[in-house]
Formats: sequence, structure tokens, C-alpha cells
Amino acid sequence: MKPILLSGRANPVLAREIAQARGMKLGQCNIDSFPDGEIHVEILEDLLGCDVYLIQPTSPPVAENLLELLLLSDAARRSGAAHITGVIPYLGYARQDRRSAPGEPVGGRVAADMLSVGMDRIITVDLHKPTLEGFFSVPVEHLSAIELIAENLKRSLPNNPVLVAPDLGAAKLANTYADLLYIPVAYIYKVRESGDKVSIRNIVGDVAGCSPILVDDMISTAGTMIKAMEALLFQKCFHDITLVATHGLFVGDGPSKINSFPVSKIIVTDSIMQHKNQIALPIHVVSLKRLLANAIKRLNFYD
Ligand code: R5P
Repeated sequence: MKPILLSGRANPVLAREIAQARGMKLGQCNIDSFPDGEIHVEILEDLLGCDVYLIQPTSPPVAENLLELLLLSDAARRSGAAHITGVIPYLGYARQDRRSAPGEPVGGRVAADMLSVGMDRIITVDLHKPTLEGFFSVPVEHLSAIELIAENLKRSLPNNPVLVAPDLGAAKLANTYADLLYIPVAYIYKVRESGDKVSIRNIVGDVAGCSPILVDDMISTAGTMIKAMEALLFQKCFHDITLVATHGLFVGDGPSKINSFPVSKIIVTDSIMQHKNQIALPIHVVSLKRLLANAIKRLNFYD
């Protein structure tokens, strides 16, 4: 089946690079918004019988990017695509994987249901929790950027490094990095009080005099990383902090708050396109282009 790669508006740079890595050009489509905010999509390719890959992280604005992806998949289906894969490097709503209070929905399940109707398969990277795969009724190719990021870290490890999980949810992730980098781990006990407020209860492990490498799946408001850094500095860690996350959302005033800490390096991937307001931060972007291009090659059976 002939593969065709199409991009939404959320991360056209990564989409172009994936296409280049596959030795292809992105398929053409027009996407714009009507004056009332409705999204208009028009695919300008002949998709009859094709294996179509729609590249779009559902990053902020999450609802808009999600709907745009669903509109693209509907357009592709109606144009005769034989098979549609959603390439979603960052999956929004993934943190809503359970109800934490009565009266709440399971947002992750709602997003997965919508995507499972529109797509025949999903390719994604470092889901908030691997069990989210079970929310989808179509096959999910769950890739990980951890090895790519660890390779980048290895090239310039700070003196006396210690990996730090900024909350218990990141403990397994920190252990995976520790196995690849052979450095010790410390764990922080964080409590989330609201969407943008967290507090720290305890640190388990030695951090005094060490250069912390904080690892998480994502940095959103940066509240988790900031509270963790405050706790680490209080415990007399070295003023050479590295922040690591697969997904760098950097929403609100998170980036400017990070600037007031001794952060030497922030490593994120290009799952989400980085914008100008992060330029002042020492961000190193690890590209997912080969990881995603290889997955597309592997899954395009009739290539
Ligand atoms: C939480 O479980 C996640 O792994 C991240 O720690 C969290 O979502 C990051 O969000 P923020 O940067 O807003 O604290």
C-alpha cells in the first residue's frame, strides 16, 4: 500500500523531518480556521487505497489539535484511504487516566475512544502511563524516547550526578534511566493539590553535594520541577541542575519561573514544537524523527 504522510498544524516541522527521513515529501493539504473558530481541512492528494499517516501531537491547544486530527482522519477516510494511522508524538488528556473525585470523567478514555473511531492504528511516544494503551480499541505502537535522551545525557554528565524522580509516578522512569546511565537515584514524595499547585513531603536518597538530573514524562506548568528543585536546594544539592522530560509543554509562566533556578540544561524531545517564549531557557531538543520514521517504515507492510 502506498504510504502518504500528512501533517496537521501542531508540529509541521517534525512532520517534514519525518517525511525527509523516509525519503518522502509531505502530502498536501490546506488547513485553516473559519472566522468563528471552526477548523476547515482539505486534503489535496489522491488517497484512494493508500496507507495514510496523520502526524499531529495533541498538544496545547489540546482540544483544537485533537479535533483537527479527527477532521483529517475523516477527510482521509472519505477520500478512500485504505488504512489510517494517527502519529501522535504527545497524547493530551493522558493524565486523566482515572477519576480522582466523584463527578469527574475519565478524559483519557474519552480521547482514546474518539481517536479509535477515526484511526485504524496509533503511534505514540512515552504515554503518561503505559496502561493507557488499553483505552484504545485499535492497535497502539507505543515508542519510547528514553534511550535517545539517555544517549544525549551520557555525552555531558555533570559531576557527581544523581537521578531524581520528582514524584512517585516518575520512580520507574528514573530507574530506567539509572539502568542506562549507571548513576544512583533519589525519589521525591510529591502531593498535587490542584492543576497548578503541588507540595513536597519528603526526599528519599542522598542528594547533598550531588548534581540532580530530574526526570519526568512531561514538563507542563513546571510546578512539579520547581517544587522538586526547591526541595533539592534545601537539601544542599549542587547548583547544577538538569531537567529531563520527553514532552516539553512549558505552559503559562513555567519557563520564566525555571529561569530563577540554577538549571544548566533542559532536555526535551520535539514531540511538541518549541516556541519563542522558551528561547531564554537552556533547552536541548532531541529529535524523534528517526524513531517515528522507522516505526512508519516497519508498519507500512506493503512498502
Ligand atoms: C504527573 O503525574 C506528571 O508525570 C508530571 O509530573 C506533571 O504532569 C507535570 O506537570 P507540571 O509541569 O504542570 O507540574
